[in-house]
Amino acid sequence: MKTIIISNRLPVKIIEENNEYKYIPSEGGLATGLGDIYKNGNSIWIGWPGLEIPEDRQLEVANKLAELHLYPVFLTQEEINLFYEGFSNEVLWPVFHYVVTYAKYEQSYWDSYKAVNEKFANNTIKFIEQGDQIWVQDYQLLLVPHLIRAYKQDAIIGFFQHIPFPSYEIFRLIPWRNELLTGLTGADLIGFHTYDDVRHFLHTTARLLPITASANILTCNERQIVVEAFPMGIDFDKFSSLPKQPAVFKEIERLNNVPDKATHVLSIDRLDYSKGILERLQAYSLLLENNPEYVGKIVWTMVVVPSRDTVPQYRDLKEQIDRTVGDINSRHRTATWNPINYFYRSFPIEELSIFYATADICLVTPMRDGMNLVSKEYVASRNNDDGVLILSEMAGSSKELTDALIVNPNNLGDIMNAIEHAMQMPQEEQRERMIAMRAVVKKFSVKRWVDNFMLKLAEVKQLQDSLK
Ligand code: UDP
Ligand code: G6P
Repeated sequence: MKTIIISNRLPVKIIEENNEYKYIPSEGGLATGLGDIYKNGNSIWIGWPGLEIPEDRQLEVANKLAELHLYPVFLTQEEINLFYEGFSNEVLWPVFHYVVTYAKYEQSYWDSYKAVNEKFANNTIKFIEQGDQIWVQDYQLLLVPHLIRAYKQDAIIGFFQHIPFPSYEIFRLIPWRNELLTGLTGADLIGFHTYDDVRHFLHTTARLLPITASANILTCNERQIVVEAFPMGIDFDKFSSLPKQPAVFKEIERLNNVPDKATHVLSIDRLDYSKGILERLQAYSLLLENNPEYVGKIVWTMVVVPSRDTVPQYRDLKEQIDRTVGDINSRHRTATWNPINYFYRSFPIEELSIFYATADICLVTPMRDGMNLVSKEYVASRNNDDGVLILSEMAGSSKELTDALIVNPNNLGDIMNAIEHAMQMPQEEQRERMIAMRAVVKKFSVKRWVDNFMLKLAEVKQLQDSLK
């Protein structure tokens, strides 16, 4: 018996340099969260390696990935354009994050989404053995549970969505809404990060499909489907032990022992309009305008990880961020000080750890976020129990990290005040808040998240069998 994980993106992605393929870790919460865990059990992972691979090199790639128990689904450039950039990231992503004006309801996107979901299902079917647990991940593959079920009636299928599920009024805008929901009803267990997502999903499904919903159970063709919240965690021990590694420790000490150290603010996001990066920049600009005494006293390290840069809204956002950062830096800088250190690139985990461990304030202000693992990684990295987390109430993690300074990301004054509050917060209060948050992040680790989901999936299957 094994677990088969299926996601659009594998935890390893391929980039091409001088005609050679390099295999590097993927970014994003799904890949980083599950990326280590799957190695521990008896699991395989099926997904796309992030690049169009020509047919004559597919065998080479498949062999290399198989060493890691990863099995590639190869997408053509057209599928990347229509299924990935198109339906997944120009329809589902904006609508599920409540930015409905960005959605492009193109028939060709939908046709490709259906075809590629079938491709994923067909690639999976050949691996399924009796008793295997199949775990489908995220919004790119909403149709896969039903497609696998059609092939194998008694398959054990779980589905987890890493992004929010919107309210009925938003979801019903999608022309292919019923087909999407029907796709999901192939699963036995459907998981979301928060109870709000669960509630939205149950309500939407009961209104749109001829299905009965009672409490958190949907009954579909006499099969019971359980819908539950499973807030995803992180590997606390990994993030807590990284700052103790000799090279990492040395760098942290060097950066912390600068005389008259300025308050160090940190943000780390994929470049995405859901992350509230522009609004955060505006709030910071206001803070500097209103408080000339902060010149030289505060520095913001802003890490923006390149993401989906072929999708028009992401390209536009990149330009706007570049312009706004340039504007703020050129207006407020002095000969020896820059208000924002802006990086447009990704970093290895050791360097992320140095950022987390040296940041007095971590600024996480998404407009909407399924969970947000960065906020948890910051907390886990704070071994001295100090530092302040400023967290948007629209992030799933705000339901657990209630000792953060919680802000409304649309309220620039709120963000500005929270930064000032954090700068002035006494050590004792920082400690109390951080200790409470560290206990939560430690207890609800990603390992526990996987175990809880898998246990529940087995339980649901038993329940179904007992009702036969
Ligand atoms: N991350 C990364 N490389 C970087 C910066 C960030 O791998 O250079 C990781 C980060 O550690 C976190 C993930 O990307 O685990 C982002 O997950 P989150 O849930 O915060 O947001 P998402 O990108 O999934 O929307
Ligand atoms: C979020 C999504 C993931 C996705 C990741 C990175 O975390 O929930 O499904 O893999 O962003 O986005 P990308 O489009 O590069 O896979």
